[in-house]
Amino acid sequence: MIKHLRSAADLDAETATLILDTAAEMAALSGREVKKLPALRGRTVVNLFYEDSTRTRISFEAAAKRLSADVINFSAKGSSVSKGESLKDTALTLQAMGADAVVIRHSASGAPHRLANWVDGSVVNAGDGTHEHPTQALLDAYTMRSRLGRLDGLKVAIVGDVLHSRVARSNVLLLTTLGAQVTVVGPPTLIPLDVAAALSEKTQVSFDLDAVLPDSDVVMMLRVQTERMQDSYFPSAREYSRRYGLDVPRLHKMPEHAIVMHPGPMNRGMEIAPEVADSPRSTIVEQVANGVSVRMAVLYLLLGGK
Ligand code: NCD
Repeated sequence: MIKHLRSAADLDAETATLILDTAAEMAALSGREVKKLPALRGRTVVNLFYEDSTRTRISFEAAAKRLSADVINFSAKGSSVSKGESLKDTALTLQAMGADAVVIRHSASGAPHRLANWVDGSVVNAGDGTHEHPTQALLDAYTMRSRLGRLDGLKVAIVGDVLHSRVARSNVLLLTTLGAQVTVVGPPTLIPLDVAAALSEKTQVSFDLDAVLPDSDVVMMLRVQTERMQDSYFPSAREYSRRYGLDVPRLHKMPEHAIVMHPGPMNRGMEIAPEVADSPRSTIVEQVANGVSVRMAVLYLLLGGK
């Protein structure tokens, strides 16, 4: 088993499948009245969150607690980080406390890689800048597999603000490793040529959502990340929705069996219409529930569970 999960590229098909299978066993536990396993009793998991998060942070916390680990939640706001403490000094503090695993979210791409040099425990990337978010890709793959029964040969469209999306990057890596056919869709400003070239070795690139929908098993919508945009990448929110928003008429262009995904948080009415987000074809709430099982599997396997 690998020691760290910094990138979806850390996972070969065998390891990724082991995590998904273990997550399925963990999911069986969520149906029970007592949702706890003693697997990580006496181990310490630190959640180190330098960027805002709802789903990912509580999901990692629930996962660690269901495995009986001791959980320490650290958020940069209210800590010595606001006094200017560096990531390295924070890492050395965690190391002194004997963290067995550090789950980190940071605005700097590459922060988890640096951290892994400074602590003895396992490092799990919970989102670094615009770079990667590997556990999101795992929970997305898990959701596709449980809804559609397979990943090999599945046609997945990843739509929207690809440029700023660590979710897209990790999904492209993981899904192609697991045999899915990925098409990345969005406006040319949000899939610039260098990104398209880097992606197109493994995936297809399209600027025309309507052309891609009829041939997709999965349509994964991405949030437009205005907080990471210094320029204007499209004329207006309305124009963006008209070209790249998933509304009800577009939902009808998808095959009957196809599902709609979104990692959250959503801009309802922009990249996704409320009726689509709340439709039975949407797996958005399921993705959150699956996130806990997948993160349990990741912590369990990285910390040497059998
Ligand atoms: C994503 C993230 O933070 O990268 N959200 C998540 O983890 N569920 C996507 C986003 O912020 O749009």
